[in-house]
Amino acid sequence: MNKNIPSLKIGDLTISPPIIQGGMGVRVSRSNLAAAVANEGCVGVIAGVGLGKFEGLPRSEYEAVNNEALRQEIRKARSMSKGIIGVNLMVALSNYESLAKTAVEENIDLIISGAGLPLSVFLTAGI
Ligand SMILES: Cc1cc2nc3c(=O)[nH]c(=O)nc-3n(C[C@H](O)[C@H](O)[C@H](O)COP(=O)(O)O)c2cc1C
Repeated sequence: MNKNIPSLKIGDLTISPPIIQGGMGVRVSRSNLAAAVANEGCVGVIAGVGLGKFEGLPRSEYEAVNNEALRQEIRKARSMSKGIIGVNLMVALSNYESLAKTAVEENIDLIISGAGLPLSVFLTAGI
């Protein structure tokens, strides 16, 4: 890799080469891809939308199934890589906050929030 490209620093994370893999929802970017990217020194990203076998389930179970699937994907990625793993969560999702909470519980390195501003999270956290 070209050593002239500076590392990207986010907080205490150093990303080198400075690449963040795009989150691709509905089971496209999961643990396998994220771990492979993280193993190269970049940020591997698991997309949170549409994870888990939710088809045919009642709406009331969707959130729990998604959360558990995200938890398992993060754990799987961690088992395959010691690198930087993030999640991509779209604020417009009805279960954004619950997915973000699950990711934090799993000590995710970073959350990339798209499709809106997660103001409620910052307000709740008193930031
Ligand atoms: C199949 C596919 C699924 C995607 N799903 C998401 C998603 O769930 N959330 C999101 O924020 N962006 C999503 N994106 C956008 C990518 O994360 C990325 O921002 C976009 O592809 C632009 O990056 P690029 O120019 O490197 O391709 C998706 C893109 C693709 C191709």
